[in-house]
Amino acid sequence: MITILQLSDIHLFSTKDQVYNDSNPYTNLKKVIDHLIKDKVNFDFLVLSGDLSNDFTTQSYDLLKSEVDRLQKKYYIIPGNHDDLRVMSVIFNIGNKKDSFDYSIKKDDWSFYFLDSTVPPSIHGEILDSQLEALKTFLANNSNLNIVIFMHHHPLDSESPHMNQYILKDKDAFMDIIKGFPCVKGVFFGHIHQVLEKKINNTLFASAPSTFYQIAPGLVDFKVEKTSPGYRLIYCDDKSLCSKVVWVE
Ligand SMILES: [Fe+2]
Ligand SMILES: [Fe+2]
Repeated sequence: MITILQLSDIHLFSTKDQVYNDSNPYTNLKKVIDHLIKDKVNFDFLVLSGDLSNDFTTQSYDLLKSEVDRLQKKYYIIPGNHDDLRVMSVIFNIGNKKDSFDYSIKKDDWSFYFLDSTVPPSIHGEILDSQLEALKTFLANNSNLNIVIFMHHHPLDSESPHMNQYILKDKDAFMDIIKGFPCVKGVFFGHIHQVLEKKINNTLFASAPSTFYQIAPGLVDFKVEKTSPGYRLIYCDDKSLCSKVVWVE
């Protein structure tokens, strides 16, 4: 069994005291990390699925690193529309070229693919043709494994029309590729600050809540639903995958 902890939409500012939408992103992240340590939540590695900063500053990424380092676990990072890949790359020592940022790791019979869906300075998501081709080749070459994909933007409609204008624009091309590969057991994302779960064929599509604040689903206009954080746990068994959301009140 491989257990993954997904933290998303952390939105840290350069200082610990900044509040936005009645929520303090640093306090909320600290609350999550304290809870994970205190409750001895068991997981193999973390995925931070974008919008890690809210202001693109070096200080915000330094704050993030100092908090997640307390968990003493390996973590994998993808950017969101609020991130500066160049600044992130320096702090976390990762590649910073759009064409070469996507990467994968293999663990037992599972492979985890990290896809950069950002097109700065846009809020919506996009995947380059070269990225889609690389993904298709990767899936074809690894179809004997179970595969999980992580990215920031949602590839299917959320319940919030105002968020769907910022969806992954190439969602049809992306979904067509996934449909052709039953080895893809899960596609996990963030960005919408709300929980969305949908099983299509063999694949679970699911978002992680934000560690910052949640957006009320099912409303035409933006409204904050709650200011408490949440995270997602993903369990990869011999051949199947299941997942749940945990709220930290
Ligand atoms: Fe976000
Ligand atoms: Fe986002």
